Amino acid sequence: MTTQDAAKRKAAEAALAYLEPGEVLGVGTGSTVNHFIDLIAEKRLQADIPGAVSSSNATTERLKKIGIRVLDLNDTGTLSIYVDGADEANAHLQLIKGGGGALTREKIIAAASRTFVCIVDESKLVGVLGKFPLPVEVIPMARSYVGRQLTALGGHPVLRDGVTTDNGNLILDVRGLDIVNPVELEARVNAIAGVVSVGLFAQRPADVLIVGGPSGTRTIK
Ligand code: 5RP
Repeated sequence: MTTQDAAKRKAAEAALAYLEPGEVLGVGTGSTVNHFIDLIAEKRLQADIPGAVSSSNATTERLKKIGIRVLDLNDTGTLSIYVDGADEANAHLQLIKGGGGALTREKIIAAASRTFVCIVDESKLVGVLGKFPLPVEVIPMARSYVGRQLTALGGHPVLRDGVTTDNGNLILDVRGLDIVNPVELEARVNAIAGVVSVGLFAQRPADVLIVGGPSGTRTIK
């Protein structure tokens, strides 16, 4: 296991403390979340989890493999806990997400959850968001139009090659944005016709950020 992977696993392990027995869980996507799912299995915690709402087909498969029922968010109502990773996080717990392409469902589950626990290794912590290219999910016919609008905002959008999201859409990865006002930029990108969602989680940031490093974890709230 690489040092970064070990740090992700530490963060994932610390998130187990937020599990609420008997409560349906929201589960994100990515390698850090995969550690979280694996740890649930290793520690045999499945019996405490009546079901989970999943943010992607990949996570759904992994949850089912360890015997956790995957539920429709329309049937669960508000979730108490959502656990997910991030590509970047700042000190205000605002995030860039979507490196794994699951940003839209992740955003929906984050919005529908009381507590969003974000798990990252320390390489993801930044002062200003935007070094990681900002993912934007777009309706296929709007790809070019949305690209021009993002360029007008100062970004350099690039189509993520060969990727179709679980929702049948495309992803533009936008470089070159210094995201000094994440809430405002999120609103501006959301307002472009054809944008399904933007991987900025600023209007609804995480509530708890668990950062894994070589000597353990620290939690920012
Ligand atoms: C997927 C995501 C992931 O949370 C993000 O890409 C982090 O992934 P990893 O845990 O593999 O570093 O937003 O859409």
